[in-house]
Amino acid sequence: MRTQVAIVGGGPSGLLLSHLLARAGVDSVVLEQRTREYVMGRVRAGLLEQGTVDVLRSCGLGARLDRECLTHEGTFLSCEGRQFRIDFKALTGKTVTIYGQTEIQKDLFDARDAANGVVIDEAQDVDIHDVESTAPWLTYRKDGQEYRVDADFVAGCDGFHGVSRTVIPSRLLQTYERVYPFGWLGILSPTPPVSNELIYCQHERGFALCSMRNLTLSRYYVQCDADATVEDWPDDRFWDELRRRLPEAAADRLVTGHSIEKSVAPLRSFVAEPMRFGRLFLAGDAAHIVPPTGAKGLNLAVSDIVMLSEALLEHYDEGSDAALDSYSSRALRRVWKAVRFSWWMTTILHRFPGDGGFAQRVQAAELDYLSTSIAAQTVLAENYTGMPLDPVTP
Ligand code: APR
Ligand code: PHB
Repeated sequence: MRTQVAIVGGGPSGLLLSHLLARAGVDSVVLEQRTREYVMGRVRAGLLEQGTVDVLRSCGLGARLDRECLTHEGTFLSCEGRQFRIDFKALTGKTVTIYGQTEIQKDLFDARDAANGVVIDEAQDVDIHDVESTAPWLTYRKDGQEYRVDADFVAGCDGFHGVSRTVIPSRLLQTYERVYPFGWLGILSPTPPVSNELIYCQHERGFALCSMRNLTLSRYYVQCDADATVEDWPDDRFWDELRRRLPEAAADRLVTGHSIEKSVAPLRSFVAEPMRFGRLFLAGDAAHIVPPTGAKGLNLAVSDIVMLSEALLEHYDEGSDAALDSYSSRALRRVWKAVRFSWWMTTILHRFPGDGGFAQRVQAAELDYLSTSIAAQTVLAENYTGMPLDPVTP
């Protein structure tokens, strides 16, 4: 098989890149190791920056989103039960949008199918070759058959556990990582959300978050031990613990129900540099991971893909590789700002094992400052609603 851009990974990054390239007449092949059902079954984030929504609308993926999404003009934070609101709209003029990653994935699959896009699922043992040449090629196995794909470029959109990052020689690859000493236990419940906006709760017993997917489907998280399992957390225990960490008014309103999804997610910050090696370009979780506290994972993947698609189209349409050559540094500038913000939100909201009284007092002071300072709230709002894309610098 021959294509212009071979894309490893059929998650949001890979499919959005394939969609954006196709709209500009550049063909691609997506190699996804899992089945479509598996990819659709993953419960992931659900909060979109204004910029992400703008991108989805601009490339024809806004119709169902506009019908079904929720728009939030702010968020609540609570510290030891004392709740306050940060007004994104007033402080930045921006809002955030609630629309599940699963829904975006479905819209992307539908768009690729409608355009007869080539998305090969259950592509096993993808191997990437000759990315330092101008004719890279991939091999993969499916139904016991070996296949080859020849391409001009390879996009590594295969997530944290993917193969593409391993292609960059260790002498060139620099990784940065912070693993947090706790996890998030998340549940999805067919119950009305406890609040019309999110509530991020800092509490001596640990962090909690009240989110939602729509007005009849709630998404809740509680900080848990890093090695916790869902078996440790039957629904009753979850609801009791969540209620203890919520501000009183929210706890009183909480509607509990049976969990239709329950999972434990580890928290880590991770960045791989560079995000390019020869004709291989990394994007999304293949290059970086953020703790979900700042709701940046999906939004960062989208901004990577916007920059990468623009750069590839400049190559094909104008014969220039300037944007490809600056892709890694440009993307990393935005990545590191999101990594910093996600790390900061995680440090001020979670209980760190072994933290003494000093750290806890500093956390309480941070929240107190946020609750009273417009300047502090503006910094949070500007980062949370999404920093602008950095210009392409030569
Ligand atoms: N070969 C082919 N496909 C692979 C391989 C491989 N060796 N390894 C992983 N994949 C696939 C995975 O099955 C997955 O569908 O690559 C896809 C990567 O998708 P994501 O992990 O969702 O990463 P990305 O598309 O960058 O989206 C980032 O997803 O994980 C969340 O929080 C993250 O919301 C963010 C978003
Ligand atoms: C979610 O709805 O899954 C969600 C929202 C905000 C976050 C993390 C997760 O910071």
